[in-house]
Amino acid sequence: MARLDVTEMFHGISFPGHLHTQDSLQFALKFPFQDSDILIVSYPKSGTTWMQEIVSLIFSKGDPHLSQNVPNWARCPWLEQYYFSEVLGSSPRAPRVITTHLPYHLLGPALVGSKARVIYVSRNPKDVVVSFYHFHKMANFLPEAGSFPEFLNRFLEGTLSYGSWFDHVEGWTSQTASTNNLLHITYEEMLLGLHGAIKRVSSFLKCPLLEDEVNNCVKHSSFNSMKHNKMVNYTMVAQEIMDHSKGSFMRKGKIGDWKNMFTEEQNQYFNNIFQSKMRDCALEPVWEEQ
Ligand code: A3P
Repeated sequence: MARLDVTEMFHGISFPGHLHTQDSLQFALKFPFQDSDILIVSYPKSGTTWMQEIVSLIFSKGDPHLSQNVPNWARCPWLEQYYFSEVLGSSPRAPRVITTHLPYHLLGPALVGSKARVIYVSRNPKDVVVSFYHFHKMANFLPEAGSFPEFLNRFLEGTLSYGSWFDHVEGWTSQTASTNNLLHITYEEMLLGLHGAIKRVSSFLKCPLLEDEVNNCVKHSSFNSMKHNKMVNYTMVAQEIMDHSKGSFMRKGKIGDWKNMFTEEQNQYFNNIFQSKMRDCALEPVWEEQ
């Protein structure tokens, strides 16, 4: 099958050319945010789609109608992708829920002076790299995955699509101390206590929910519900773009799958690089080894 893995280099970071153009990336950096906007930010494979579903469900008070009838990319479009303006323009919904994988050093200036609320989702980088590796095998719009050791090196060097995980996490989480407009939540927090995580997000969004409404949000954003919802499981994406015979987007939804991929040496190597790169990052170790 022909690959669609052209890349668009932008500020030293490669983005899939299938979804991004120089114009769409430039447009993102100058986007006029409104104070009512909600921005979901993440490095890929950190729980982006999950948070899109949670935010949609919170605003609909747990009613799954919207999330079962409108694809996630239309409900919460990616700011930097080429179709963004068209989708946003045709959406009557308020507040606008926007998603991005852009790092803070690129997008931060567009947010200065804005009261837009940012939800930053992070995940244990070892699980991120494993999830991203499996995703590269099915996503024909991403470069060839190669072997896992090669892929791991590219992740640690920061040369995979969307750039360095370290820069991403460091850039966005360093903002938490200086603004009340950013909520940092981890994949692990959501997995270990979805009910509490949803309440924390709903309170940040100033959208209080009744207990039954929270329970409905939990039900419809569970891994099993999302795995069977074609509006979020990406099964509607054409086979030549995502090869569904090679895996599924809603893959395992677990903590600690990295242990099935990493050798002891790779784990040591990763820990050493992690410690040296994160030395100056104010972030507490939020992804305890599970
Ligand atoms: P795995 O590949 O480890 O299963 P993103 O949306 O940022 O690309 O992240 C995708 C990852 O989030 C995948 O991880 C996917 O299975 C997981 N995920 C999506 N929805 C989830 C849910 N409701 N519960 C747990 N994990 C979920």
